[in-house]
Amino acid sequence: MQIYLDTANIDEIREAASWGILSGVTTNPSLMAKEKGADFKTTIQEIAELVDGPISAETVSLDAEGMLREGHEYVQWHPNVIIKVPSTPEGLKAVHQLAKDSIRTNVTLCFNANQALFAARAGAFIISPFIGRVDDMSVDGIDLIREIVAIYRNDPAIKTMVLAASIRHPRHIIDAATAGADIATCPFKVLQQSMKHPLTDIGIEKFLADWKSRQ
Ligand code: E4P
Repeated sequence: MQIYLDTANIDEIREAASWGILSGVTTNPSLMAKEKGADFKTTIQEIAELVDGPISAETVSLDAEGMLREGHEYVQWHPNVIIKVPSTPEGLKAVHQLAKDSIRTNVTLCFNANQALFAARAGAFIISPFIGRVDDMSVDGIDLIREIVAIYRNDPAIKTMVLAASIRHPRHIIDAATAGADIATCPFKVLQQSMKHPLTDIGIEKFLADWKSRQ
């Protein structure tokens, strides 16, 4: 399973990229809004300089025509830009046309397996089930990943990748990987938490103390 970073913060992306684990980055309008004063195009281009993989830029139009207009504009910014559109009928229309135009899409805000199946049929490059937000509704988000993976595997014609989005904690990453997700997009904080273990810290402390006391 590949790891993407779910942020528009350049410092976080620079740091996580230096770990050598990133295969892509996802942004959304809320993440962009957190970066006060940052220009969307400049941010996407800066990200693309730091990470050599798909960079998701999200459309904000509600109709397919607007999504297509935005999508065609965003892909001019960098060859690695992929277009995020919502799991709606208008989104499907946009995905279908963008696929014909050889433009890759990430279908976002997916909350059920039918949305995922239809996105794949329309030609999505990536489907993004939001596991954290599903968990918030007292439904198991990882079960949704399992269902989508099973449906996609039943049809060899489907090449759409399953991206576990709305990751809230390190266990989500492990569960998404074992459920068969192709990608997990993670907040930087969850990447940091994932690398933290008290026994690692205690182990380092002990090794250093022993090293100092040698001879
Ligand atoms: C990723 O593509 C999504 O936009 C993101 O994971 C949403 O996460 P949230 O539910 O924490 O906002």
